Amino acid sequence: MQIPGNVLDVLTDPRTVISGDRVAVPFQLDPALYQRMNKMLKDIGGRWDGRKAVGAHVFPFPVEEFMRACLAAGEWPSRYEQGWYPTPPKVVFDMLEHASIRVGHTVLEPSAGTGSLLKPMAEQMGIVDCVEIDFRRAHVLRELGLARQVILGDFLDLDPLATDEPYDRIVMNPPFSDAIGHVMHALGFLKDGGTLVAVMPESITWHSDRAAVEFRKLIADNEGEIVKLPADAFAPSGTNVRTVLVCLDADPDGTLRTHGWHRRQPVQLDLFAMA
Ligand SMILES: C[S@@+](CC[C@H](N)C(=O)[O-])C[C@H]1O[C@@H](n2cnc3c(N)ncnc32)[C@H](O)[C@@H]1O
Repeated sequence: MQIPGNVLDVLTDPRTVISGDRVAVPFQLDPALYQRMNKMLKDIGGRWDGRKAVGAHVFPFPVEEFMRACLAAGEWPSRYEQGWYPTPPKVVFDMLEHASIRVGHTVLEPSAGTGSLLKPMAEQMGIVDCVEIDFRRAHVLRELGLARQVILGDFLDLDPLATDEPYDRIVMNPPFSDAIGHVMHALGFLKDGGTLVAVMPESITWHSDRAAVEFRKLIADNEGEIVKLPADAFAPSGTNVRTVLVCLDADPDGTLRTHGWHRRQPVQLDLFAMA
C-alpha cells in the first residue's frame, strides 16, 4: 500500500522517534492526518498506547528496520494483501499445547510473519526454521535471532524433497486465503511420527468445494483433530474470521503426504510400472 505523502512527511520528520518497538510523533497533527497515519500503523500491527510514559504506537515486534524499509519504498505490506494476522497469545498457547515441542525438536514455521509463534517455540527449545514471503517481516525474524534459519520466499515454491531433514513439528498460521494449500504443502516437510498444528479458517469445516471435502476426509482418515476456537479468537489481530485448530499426527501407515511419503513415491511408481 502506498504511504500517503503527508503521512510519509510525518514519519520521516526528524522529530519523529522510531525505535525498538515504538513509533512516537511528539508534535500535534490535525485529526484527519492523525487518522490516516493511525490507519497505516495499525495495519502494520501497532496499537496506540496513550499512557503518559509511553505516548506512542507500540508494536509486537522490533519495528525500526521494518519502518525504515517501508519509508524508503514509500509503501507498506498491507495485512489484507498478504494475510498478516499475527497469532494472538491465547491461540499461541493452545497451539503449543497441541504441538508438545520437546527440547531439540526441529520445527518448521512456514508463514512466520513477525514471529508470534517463533518466540515461544524457541523458548521451548525447539530448533525453529522460518519461511516468510515479505522481506520486511523476514528481516524482523532475523533480527529476533531466535530461528536456526529464516528463508525469505514463497513457501509454496519450496520443494519438500530438497530437504533431507524433515521436521518433528510444523506449527503454522498460514494466510487464510489458501490455508488448505499451505497445510497440504507443509505435510511434505513433516517427519513420519511428527505432528502438524495449524490454525485455519472455520470454513474448512463446512465448505463444499472439492479441496475442503478432501481435506476433511484426510483429517478423518488420519484420526486428526479439529478444535473450534472462540469466535473472537483473532479479534486482537483485527479480524472476526472464525478459526479452528487442525492437529495431525503423521502415522507412517496413514495417508498423509509426509516427507516420507514423497520419498517413497519413486519406489512405488516403479513397482506400479512392473505390475
Ligand atoms: C496469518 S499471518 C501469520 C504470521 C505468523 N505465523 C504469526 O502467527 O504471527 C501469515 C503470514 O504468512 C506470510 N505469507 C503469505 N503468503 C506466504 C507464502 N506463500 N509463503 C510464505 N509466507 C507467506 C504473510 O506475509 C504473513 O506474514
